[in-house]
This record gives sequence, C-alpha cells and structure tokens, in this order.
Amino acid sequence: MLEKVEHRLITEDGRRIDGRALDEMRPVRIEAGVLDRSDGSAYIEMGKTKIYAAVYGPKEAHPRHLAQPHKAILNCRYHMAAFSVEGRKAPGMTRREIELSKVIREALESIVILEEFPRSAIDIFIEVIQADAGTRTAGLTAASLALADAGIPILDLCAGIAVGKVEGRIVLDPSEEEDKRGEADMPVAMAPRLGSIVLLQLNGRMTSSEFTEALNLAKKGIGVLYELQRKALGKKFATFTPAGEE
Ligand code: CDP
Repeated sequence: MLEKVEHRLITEDGRRIDGRALDEMRPVRIEAGVLDRSDGSAYIEMGKTKIYAAVYGPKEAHPRHLAQPHKAILNCRYHMAAFSVEGRKAPGMTRREIELSKVIREALESIVILEEFPRSAIDIFIEVIQADAGTRTAGLTAASLALADAGIPILDLCAGIAVGKVEGRIVLDPSEEEDKRGEADMPVAMAPRLGSIVLLQLNGRMTSSEFTEALNLAKKGIGVLYELQRKALGKKFATFTPAGEE
C-alpha cells in the first residue's frame, strides 16, 4: 500500500509553506466601528482568519440576581459560524466555544474598569466568519478594540497572537496547517502598556529556551497588532461626526 507523503512545512532556506519567514505574521487588517447596530464593534483579518466583534452596553444586568453591587459583569460569547471551517460546523455552542468564551472573558476582565458600572452588564459577541487558526487571539484583539470603540473605560487595549513550534522551529502566527501538523501551539495575549500577560496557553511541548523565544516572538507580533488597533481607533474617531452635525 502506498503511504501518503506529507510535504515539508519549512523549506531548507527557512521559508514556510505560504512563503513567510519564521517571524512573519500573516497580512493583517484591523478596523473599528464596522457595525451600526452595536455600541462598539471591530473587524480583524489575519490571513484567511476573519472575525467580527460587537459590544452592547453597559446596560442593566439580566437576570437581576446576577448583578454585582460594585461592578459590571462581562458576558462574552465566542462563536464560529457554521460556514467558517472546512466541513460544516454544528451551529450551536460547542464545548470548545464555551471554554474559549471563558478564556477570552477572563482576559478582557483585566482591562475593563468594571467598577465604573455597578449593577450593569456588558455583552461581547465574537463571530468567527472564517477560521484558519489563531481565532481565539484574533477574536480577543477585535473584542478589546470593540470595547474601546464603545467608549467603555479600559486600562489598556489588549492584543493577542499565537506562536508555534513547527519542525523544530519557533514560528509566529501559525496557519491552520502549521497548527495541525506542528509540535506546539501557544496563544498569547498582552496588554502592552500595563505590562500584563492576559492570556497564555500551551498545547504541545517546548523546552524552556524555546518557550522564552516563543514568548519574545509573540511580544513582537503583539506590538504590531497594538499599533494597528490604535491606528484603527484614531481613524474611526477622526472621521466621527457628532449626532445632529452630519
Ligand atoms: O483558532 P484557535 O487557533 O484559537 O483554536 P484551535 O482550537 O487551536 O483551532 C485551530 C483551528 O482549527 C481553528 O482556527 C480552525 O481553523 C480549525 N478548527 C476547525 O476547523 N473546526 C473546529 N471545529 C475548530 C477548529
């Protein structure tokens, strides 16, 4: 029987299957204020990964017994559209989506000043329109921008990116094929001005020196995303026309 031979993911001269260098992220597009019906919104594209985030609130918390007397509660839903992955995904919330919603919510809780809005709720929706790896970090990057777009007080924006280990090399922003066939995948998110890591997960194995290299590479990518977030906000508010002055 013929065995299926899988192609190499990294060439002799250190290029990846899509032509990127090891420390190169995919083409990124970040926009703020892209949806009219929500209080704040953002769109992110990282290569073939495409995600919208929308924020509603602060508004009165429902059901009432969930309200916190001294702060707002943050509700977060990370969801993949049925058509976002190869082969249709069941439209409901899977265990993975429930877990990612929690991980992203916890990351956002470290940047939102929840004490400003006692007894309130802020709802965040992350809709993955097309998935090609790195959706939790891209979703978080978009959600933090959507919160800022909604005018919700935050201590800092946060941005995230994954780093991976592929054929023994540390790579920035793995694609789905690299993620699936690689040895390790490590999503990282930071609030750069606060100097905080707000999300860090590791699937697979790395040595401690590879881990340090990966974290530094993630930091570099996050710096780029953070600048793009700030630019997107600047662009949105530079063109903002107050109601009645249109
Ligand atoms: O998206 P992220 O890398 O944060 O999470 P993951 O669980 O490591 O998933 C990696 C990729 O696998 C996703 O981005 C999708 O491209 C793909 N995936 C899929 O095809 N079908 C699913 N039900 C879940 C993930």
